[in-house]
Amino acid sequence: MSSLIHKQIIVGVTGGIAAYKSAELIRQLRQQGAEVRVVMTSGACQFITPLTLQALSGHPVHQHLLDPTTEAAMGHIELARWADAIVIAPATAQCITELAAGHADQLLTAVCLASQNVPSILAPAMNQQMWHHPNTQRNVARLSEQGWHMVGPAYGEQACGEVGPGRMSEPQDIVQAVTDLFSTGALADCRILLTAGPTVEAIDPVRFVSNHSSGKMGYALAAAAVEAGAQVTLISGPVALPFPEHVQGVRVTDAEQMLAQVLQQVEHCDVFIGCAAVADYRPTQSALHKLKKSDQPFTLEFVPNPDIIATVARLPNKPIVIGFAAQTMDLIKNARQKLMTKGLDGIVANLVGGADRGFNADDNALTLIDDNNEINLPLMSKQQGARKIIKWLVQQFWQNNMKDKSV
Ligand code: C5P
Repeated sequence: MSSLIHKQIIVGVTGGIAAYKSAELIRQLRQQGAEVRVVMTSGACQFITPLTLQALSGHPVHQHLLDPTTEAAMGHIELARWADAIVIAPATAQCITELAAGHADQLLTAVCLASQNVPSILAPAMNQQMWHHPNTQRNVARLSEQGWHMVGPAYGEQACGEVGPGRMSEPQDIVQAVTDLFSTGALADCRILLTAGPTVEAIDPVRFVSNHSSGKMGYALAAAAVEAGAQVTLISGPVALPFPEHVQGVRVTDAEQMLAQVLQQVEHCDVFIGCAAVADYRPTQSALHKLKKSDQPFTLEFVPNPDIIATVARLPNKPIVIGFAAQTMDLIKNARQKLMTKGLDGIVANLVGGADRGFNADDNALTLIDDNNEINLPLMSKQQGARKIIKWLVQQFWQNNMKDKSV
């Protein structure tokens, strides 16, 4: 169910003969839609040139820890923050030893040390005796305990002529393992209803009142929820985006239509996420025909729109309800107030009004708020933010909900 579109993957290449296979791995990751940045050790450069991997990844290869120019552009901490996942293929015995010992004297190991919460894969490749050695096995066990996923090594004939486990797994198997990292299944059996985009409130047949919401955040959330195994219905105001794969999409125009659709679907959902920027008011009357221009001042009367999320939160069998608070100032205070007055379980606060974040931008800096906690996320893509929100939903609300049901 998962693809690698919008996923940011670091491919680490270390110095083994299998390094030639990492070229094909990078090609296949990009073919699946991933963005790839390559980090090579000096040993890796003895086996394959950085130029080859630069051409395949579409970006300069990162090689040095203490190079002032590269550190200024994208240093080890930025690389670690950028990554949705790290794959080291091939991972030599030396690399595995250094990772297990927590070394950080090479760019690749420093990036890994700064990426504790980033899902990571090792594709070991070495002589079969080196693989069987108790030191290697102890290091592998230690890294597995820390959450590293091992792919391979595969059994077969090795470059040194010996036969046994130690060949790097084939690129397609590693790509599959990367894809599996994102399909967590954490929301299997969960039905999610989402609203997204703006609402458009008609003044007359050609004019309207609306806002700058692009729908990107809500659509990214729908995709991330599907990836986690949820059954997702997305009720969307007018936006230019196609519905993500495997999402049941419903298009509406104004707030009243959105409310009607929500009320029709809400009974069948476990979680409701109100991501739509619903217009607070609509014109009291929408004129049947186009209003004529005149040189007189023109006054339009508005009535408040129904509050969709508050309506859902008041239902007797209400689902878990998560809202959004887009603010230009006093972000946390206003978000907490909305959490309380609307009766929500959680709220995602984000500052809007700057060109680099919020409405219409590709990035967002979010704060995830519930009754007890606040989690601040740095500026990141809406796809990355969406995956963090889904993880929060699972850990903070869904798992507890499942526990309550099982008692
Ligand atoms: O009150 P405000 O618009 O700031 O609240 C934002 C939250 O409330 C969002 O989750 C939004 O989707 C939801 N909302 C709603 N119906 C409205 C107004 C806001 O569901 N009429």
